[in-house]
Amino acid sequence: MTDATPEGGQRRLRAGVIGLGWAGQQHVAAYAADPTVDLVALSAMEEHLLDRFGEEHDVPGRYQDWKQMIAEAELDVVSIATPTFLHRPMAVHALEAGLHVIAEKPMAETGEAAADMVSAARAAGRVLDVSFNHRRRGNVTALKSVVDSGVLGKLYYAKTGWVRRQGIPGLGTWFTKAASAGGGAMMDIGIHMLDMTLHLMGEPEVTAVSASTHAEFGPLGRGGSGFGVSQVEEGVPFEVEDLATAFLRLDGGGTMLLESSWAQWIPHDLCYVTLYGADGGAHIEWGGDAARPQITVWTEVAGMPAELQPAVGEDGHHAAAVADFLQKVRSGDTAAHDGSLALRRAQVIDACYASAEAGGEVAVAR
Ligand SMILES: NC(=O)c1ccc[n+]([C@@H]2O[C@H](COP(=O)([O-])OP(=O)(O)OC[C@H]3O[C@@H](n4cnc5c(N)ncnc54)[C@H](O)[C@@H]3O)[C@@H](O)[C@H]2O)c1
Repeated sequence: MTDATPEGGQRRLRAGVIGLGWAGQQHVAAYAADPTVDLVALSAMEEHLLDRFGEEHDVPGRYQDWKQMIAEAELDVVSIATPTFLHRPMAVHALEAGLHVIAEKPMAETGEAAADMVSAARAAGRVLDVSFNHRRRGNVTALKSVVDSGVLGKLYYAKTGWVRRQGIPGLGTWFTKAASAGGGAMMDIGIHMLDMTLHLMGEPEVTAVSASTHAEFGPLGRGGSGFGVSQVEEGVPFEVEDLATAFLRLDGGGTMLLESSWAQWIPHDLCYVTLYGADGGAHIEWGGDAARPQITVWTEVAGMPAELQPAVGEDGHHAAAVADFLQKVRSGDTAAHDGSLALRRAQVIDACYASAEAGGEVAVAR
């Protein structure tokens, strides 16, 4: 299935990608640019996308039937970038066939589905990873270094959000159906900010949440962005939220406020994280005023209040997420990379929807 590089270096890996919307295209680009990988197979419903990306990257295997791809293409690794409700069946099948899997976020439509994926990875002894590409942004990795330096002291509070003015993806496609997407703005973009902020805070467990959801734009056919390559179906009801807000309790006594919206009457789209520590605070944002520094840190220097603006490195995005996945595969340490961290994110999102439904605080299931 694999062969060594001529220089005796890293084992070459045979990669495939299922799904060729925006997300799948990022995985295709990441594998195509990696000299240690052979991108050998693609699967999607759209023949024109199979042809386009197959020709662009000289990919021999092109399949409308993803199971046929897994049976025939002799893959080591596969990226799953299909509508969210397909992540579980595709990942479980691929893992059982002996492949290492990276799925797009959200990991699955429910925590239960995500747990099935983790169980399959453990049983197969294969890596299961989830693509949290936004935590690879230069400002996020730089802020992580700031946090890890200890300059902010103990972190006890965070505010974070991704809010859009008009950005409902695929109105009338799988994106806005409850069963196929699992949820709306919180599931789609809130999950990135949840992941990033917990990562920045050093992975505290979320113990309980109190959340609310609203749908003021989608049901009226307003706020759409036209994102996605999937077919729009006439008359599909808008079954998910276009705004979700949540208050999260963290073990150790910390708290987090998380907001996510696909559409809102606001001046412009914005992503932000503000961290509050005992010895300093820090803020990153993007999508707003471009002139703002990418990180601001407030602390004391020589007993005086100080505002610092650390230098920010390059963005990593999907290429970095895929490179990380490949490194996990090559490490051979499948037990350490079974998708558990992404499962915990899915359980928090589950709890947010349960809380919104119940109208009160709920504990996060484990
Ligand atoms: N990480 C990110 O920043 C990011 C951004 C966008 C989307 N996503 C995630 O990626 C996933 C896909 O989103 P998208 O926007 O690319 O969706 P999309 O609707 O634009 O594309 C979906 C793709 O999946 C393919 N597909 C559907 N059913 C299939 C089947 N049975 N066999 C083979 N292919 C099939 C379609 O043909 C299409 O190519 C979702 O889970 C979404 O949440 C992640």
